[in-house]
Amino acid sequence: MATDPNGFLIDQSREFQIRSAACHPTSSVYPAGSPVESRLTGTLAAKRTQQRLSLISRHLDQRLPLPELNTPFSTERNSLAPDDVEYKPVDRTSTNSSPSLSPSPTSSATPSPSQPASPTANMSQQAPHPTLLIPGPIEFDDAVLQSMSHYAESHVAPGFVKTFGETLALTRKLFQSTNPAAQPFVISGSGTLGWDVVASNLIEKGENALVLHTGYFADSFANCLQTYGAHATQLKAPIGERPSFEEIEQALKEKPYKLITITHVDTSTGVLSDIKRVAEVVRRVSPQTLVVVDGVCSVGCEEIAFDEWDLDVVLTASQKAIGCPPGLSILMLSGRAIDTFKTRKTPSSSYYASLGNWLPIMQNYEAFKPSYFATPPTQLVHALHTTLSHITARPMHERFSIHAHVSDLVKAAVADLGLHQVAAKRENQAHAMTAIWLPEGLAPPDILPGLLKRGVIFAAGLHKEVATRYIRFGHMGVSVTDPKRTDIKDAIAALKEALAEAKLAKGL
Ligand SMILES: Cc1ncc(COP(=O)(O)O)c(C=O)c1O
Repeated sequence: MATDPNGFLIDQSREFQIRSAACHPTSSVYPAGSPVESRLTGTLAAKRTQQRLSLISRHLDQRLPLPELNTPFSTERNSLAPDDVEYKPVDRTSTNSSPSLSPSPTSSATPSPSQPASPTANMSQQAPHPTLLIPGPIEFDDAVLQSMSHYAESHVAPGFVKTFGETLALTRKLFQSTNPAAQPFVISGSGTLGWDVVASNLIEKGENALVLHTGYFADSFANCLQTYGAHATQLKAPIGERPSFEEIEQALKEKPYKLITITHVDTSTGVLSDIKRVAEVVRRVSPQTLVVVDGVCSVGCEEIAFDEWDLDVVLTASQKAIGCPPGLSILMLSGRAIDTFKTRKTPSSSYYASLGNWLPIMQNYEAFKPSYFATPPTQLVHALHTTLSHITARPMHERFSIHAHVSDLVKAAVADLGLHQVAAKRENQAHAMTAIWLPEGLAPPDILPGLLKRGVIFAAGLHKEVATRYIRFGHMGVSVTDPKRTDIKDAIAALKEALAEAKLAKGL
């Protein structure tokens, strides 16, 4: 079965229609004599149709160069013509709707590795669905989802103020921070908002930022900094690697930098940066430079000791290892970072992202005082409260170890399949995702549908230079920490089968 450019399966009858129409561009998929058919006879309409069909057939024909994949570069920013290929979402309304997920009444009690016995065994109260194992968003715990169905309440009523205040205290625990000068922020928005907070509050027009580049997300952070008028210098490493400590030290000696940014785990490559050592280099060579960590793909799964490592900003989002639905931008700022904002020569260059607007709100909520600048997403704050209560109920080091342990299992399984990682060196490898090179001759659309058929969703490549050559497997949060779940074992089995199937189909 074919897939559309986003990796969704295309209904076969529809696929047949599209294919025949693509082969015979003058024939129509619409009934003869229908109003649509008559319109298609017009020259202009026919030309447009031909272009559409040619676009679709290019998408379907695997012999031609592959279409752009579902990366922010294609679907969100540079998408070409609108695509009306029918979208067939997985039917989640009935437990018997998905043959690959629900065993038939006659199937044996022991499931094959590729067919989990029952998704509800893993996901208890949730409707059956393929397991989301992309590097965020991730699977949810039932309790997190249930806490979102809280009755309506005012954002300044005592009940919600207490929940929000406690959530901020739990956020400190998440970052292993006890320094009262540091301040957590939970703001409605996605991880990207954290970049805007940094770029519009902690650096001014014309000042320098050093951006350590380990993949796609450094390019975007640099873009954001430049949007607000900072000069961003990128220190780039080859794909799969990270800049060396010597290069970082050398760069810091060349000119004064107001801040340095490090992507803790670059989600496009699975490269892990050693933020503790980078912070040490910065404090030795350029002590006033703010150390800013993009922890969107690391907070909650990679070790971070905010106070002890003397970090200035860690920004993250709710939807990855924290295990909350998307929609919250979460930041931790040091006293040094807050002073930097307070002593700016010019006002913050953003309104919604201004720390001047948010700082008193966060301080008030933490002191259990109602406060308003912009309405907080009350349901998401409940969900965050629930997940952070679970996460911080046990020592954080236990959480990091379990992610590291499962990561070792995944990486060993990948190696057993004869596959290699984008981050080749062990010390560069993230513990909650794995970016896997595909064998020569295979591309993500050859394998992702096979995984989906087996109830597993992985992501395609994202690094713009090599996106068609690899896939990404996210192993974080409840899929890793909940002993009742078999998500990772099932995904490894599915990968093995889908890979064999894809190779066979390609004659490899
Ligand atoms: C490392 C990293 N930084 C920033 C972002 C942007 O976060 P969001 O998509 O929540 O805006 C992402 C998103 O995946 C990310 O992985």
